[in-house]
Amino acid sequence: MRTFPHEFSDMLTPRGLRILEGKDKNSLFLNGKNYFATFDGMLDRRKAEDSVRILDTNLYEHLAVEQRKIPPESITGMKVNYEERLNKTMHIKTAFFRRRSARSYRAAEKIGLLQMMRSSSFTNFAEAVTGLKLDRDLNIQVSCYEHGDYVGPHNDHHPENEDVKDGFVDFHLMFTNSAVAHQYLVYEEKGHFSKIVDINIQGGVSVYKLPFWHYTTPLAGKSAQESAARRWLLLGSFSIIGGSRNGR
Ligand SMILES: [Fe+2]
Repeated sequence: MRTFPHEFSDMLTPRGLRILEGKDKNSLFLNGKNYFATFDGMLDRRKAEDSVRILDTNLYEHLAVEQRKIPPESITGMKVNYEERLNKTMHIKTAFFRRRSARSYRAAEKIGLLQMMRSSSFTNFAEAVTGLKLDRDLNIQVSCYEHGDYVGPHNDHHPENEDVKDGFVDFHLMFTNSAVAHQYLVYEEKGHFSKIVDINIQGGVSVYKLPFWHYTTPLAGKSAQESAARRWLLLGSFSIIGGSRNGR
């Protein structure tokens, strides 16, 4: 595979295809209780390996560092004990594909990434897994985590955006290389950051019904391979047709 296939369905294993075709019932988010799940074995292993190579070769150089540091005033400006506040902190490399003229957009178009993520089977798969009707006009983002890259606690609530203020679905494809030792997602359950899940899964898929509190631990490269460690994340963000309140 030298470019991404036109249809997302061409990335899927037989098990992934069964879910796409509605033969394995999932409908994860229909009962309103679930809000996060991760899957292994949905994407073809060899195509996942190819995806890493395609992204490394064609898109990596066009990514921009996205970072937000811990403000020193979050400590020095404090007047009251235990009243600390932290904005969303992060350090990753990313591309948003908002401008067609951007080099990252052109590179992503050339490797068929945007076409694959806009294909009907991409949305159909996200619908089949979540059980929700999703807006086909999705937002696309690609991120790359390297050694030490992380995203601090945040909830992805966007109360000012009419389309997503009552919740939305993020659908992630994860591609990683053998130099990564570990990376985890920590998320809330019953008001505590109690849940931790391995997200260093080659060809893994995860779905989020946002908003909820979560953070991504710093990616750790294997000893002496830190500079080679990369985990790619292809993100599709969908508005939910008919709206959805988590009620949490
Ligand atoms: Fe997030």
